[in-house]
Amino acid sequence: MIYYFSGTGNAAQVAFWFSQAAEEKNVPIDIINISKTDRNHIPSPPSNTLIGFISPTHGFNFPPVMLRFIFRFPRTDNNKVFVMNTRAGMKLSKLFLPGLSGIALLLSSIVLYLKGYKVVGMRSVDLPSNWISLHPGLKTDVVISIFNHVKKVTLKFADKILAGKKDYRALCDLPQDILIAPVSILYYLIGRFVFAKTFYASKNCNNCGLCIKQCPVKAIRLLDKRPYWSFTCESCMHCMNVCPQRAIETAHGFIIGLFILLNTVIQSLLYTKLLDAGINLFTVGKSYSWLTRLLLETLILFFSLLISYRLVHYLRKIKAFDLLIQYTSFTTYKFWRRYRPIKDLSKRKDLIPNSNN
Ligand SMILES: Cc1cc2nc3c(=O)[nH]c(=O)nc-3n(C[C@H](O)[C@H](O)[C@H](O)COP(=O)(O)O)c2cc1C
Ligand code: SF4
Ligand code: SF4
Repeated sequence: MIYYFSGTGNAAQVAFWFSQAAEEKNVPIDIINISKTDRNHIPSPPSNTLIGFISPTHGFNFPPVMLRFIFRFPRTDNNKVFVMNTRAGMKLSKLFLPGLSGIALLLSSIVLYLKGYKVVGMRSVDLPSNWISLHPGLKTDVVISIFNHVKKVTLKFADKILAGKKDYRALCDLPQDILIAPVSILYYLIGRFVFAKTFYASKNCNNCGLCIKQCPVKAIRLLDKRPYWSFTCESCMHCMNVCPQRAIETAHGFIIGLFILLNTVIQSLLYTKLLDAGINLFTVGKSYSWLTRLLLETLILFFSLLISYRLVHYLRKIKAFDLLIQYTSFTTYKFWRRYRPIKDLSKRKDLIPNSNN
């Protein structure tokens, strides 16, 4: 059985390649897209079944939707599991560049092990990066080349696991993954909420409702007759990629402006005023000073994000303001490609994220 989550199709593709390897060996296989299942009531898997979890990497970890699924997954005492993460692969000339897993495979393997599963495989595969809020989608020829490369890697891994062997190749990255662990925790606690509040629907939006319907975590709602992103958005990039009007943008100007403003206000007003009042946050019990500061600044950030994002939503009714937001969003420009994964899934439409919704 394979459980997968996929924002833009990479992890779904890996699940499909795995199923091809299984079918070739006449091994019956069930593939389940967790965004289409009841994640609150997960049935116990049949005993003596090999179970796989395949997911993209988000902020050096599995995305919360997959993490929660694994945390809620029923216990066992006689099942084997393997975990796979798809990462941000790139290509430089003929060199395939890997992404970074962080704690994605480690954390999920530990949780499954503690639930009684025997972990027989841990593998990262580097499909094209889909983080189109941060960089333009890769060019088609690069995408094709990376897909062909990763297909072979996945089939080899699948053959090994289906033959009853073990593969812990991902553990070779352990030193760098542990080094980067603090960043994955910061992304989980803070970063993902900031990214959630960078999306907006431009004037090209015709209110077709597709993004609202297809969001795997139901993070978009209509506010004032326009799509509005909540903090529950996991930045999976699905909506931004599938919008038929190419109307979903990332508000770079808004978020950079907010950070500059917050930094100025926090540094020059808050801390100076507190110092004037005789309160020095940096020396509150030495070892806790950085924590006090982090907590205070995070609180301010969340509060400002909540208010300013909503304010921007309404202020965009003013044409000049809307143009300002639009022209400071890099994603609006033509050169900023959306991500186009290869449609090798054509025979298995059911695996494409939310395709039959
Ligand atoms: C919000 C976000 C965070 C990401 N973080 C990482 C990361 O920490 N490490 C990495 O290698 N790739 C990262 N990526 C890239 C994706 O994991 C990668 O492109 C994946 O193959 C996408 O799979 P999908 O198409 O199934 O969603 C990130 C992508 C997004 C959208
Ligand atoms: S999918 Fe695009 S056009 Fe449709 S409602 Fe969402 S933003 Fe608007
Ligand atoms: S709102 Fe868009 S990016 Fe966020 S989780 Fe939903 S589909 Fe993914």
